[in-house]
Amino acid sequence: MVHSYSVHDGFLEVSSIQQGDIERLRTLRNLDAIRFSFIDSRVISPEEQKMWFERYKEKDDDFMFAIRLAQTTVGFFALYGYDRDRETVEFGRFMIDPKHQGKGSGRRAIALALLIAFGKLKVSEVTLEVFGENTTAVKLYDSAGFKVVSGKGDLVKMAYRAIGNRAE
Ligand SMILES: CC(C)(COP(=O)(O)OP(=O)(O)OC[C@H]1O[C@@H](n2cnc3c(N)ncnc32)[C@H](O)[C@@H]1OP(=O)(O)O)[C@@H](O)C(=O)NCCC(=O)NCCS
Repeated sequence: MVHSYSVHDGFLEVSSIQQGDIERLRTLRNLDAIRFSFIDSRVISPEEQKMWFERYKEKDDDFMFAIRLAQTTVGFFALYGYDRDRETVEFGRFMIDPKHQGKGSGRRAIALALLIAFGKLKVSEVTLEVFGENTTAVKLYDSAGFKVVSGKGDLVKMAYRAIGNRAE
């Protein structure tokens, strides 16, 4: 399903990816510094990427976003596994170009992802899985308000619950 969500915070803009974004997504995703933080860390070919985008366009539970600073695409993230009945979605495929890391774009992108998830998709919980050894990401998620809900081998599962849906 083609969607066209777009939100910004006056500094960073996140918007639904289009065909013209998929090669930038592929090359960024294939960098060693990025792909080794993902469960599926294979190098993706241009053909595989095109096939992925064709399948992606048919889905109605998967939303992939480009993160842009002025006119430059500095990263990507996805909200996927959207379950309308359970009001949940998963945050992932999160990457910032190493050339643009450490400047606050990751933190801002998470805030905008939560805005889309709670404000537009109307979920009550956003979950994610991250390798425990990826301390930069774990710390970032923790400071953004995600709480650890379980650990499965090397993976840590975290969740951000809407106010009013929190256990504590
Ligand atoms: C995780 C990631 C998206 C963060 O993006 P970013 O734009 O660098 O994030 P920010 O600039 O907003 O920094 C967020 C925090 O991480 C810290 N940080 C960023 N890069 C760091 C590094 N290389 N080492 C240690 N800390 C780092 C920052 O200091 C900041 O902490 P602070 O606010 O307490 O100072 C980025 O590092 C990345 O793409 N990593 C590879 C892919 C990945 O791990 N994705 C997540 C998979 S679950």
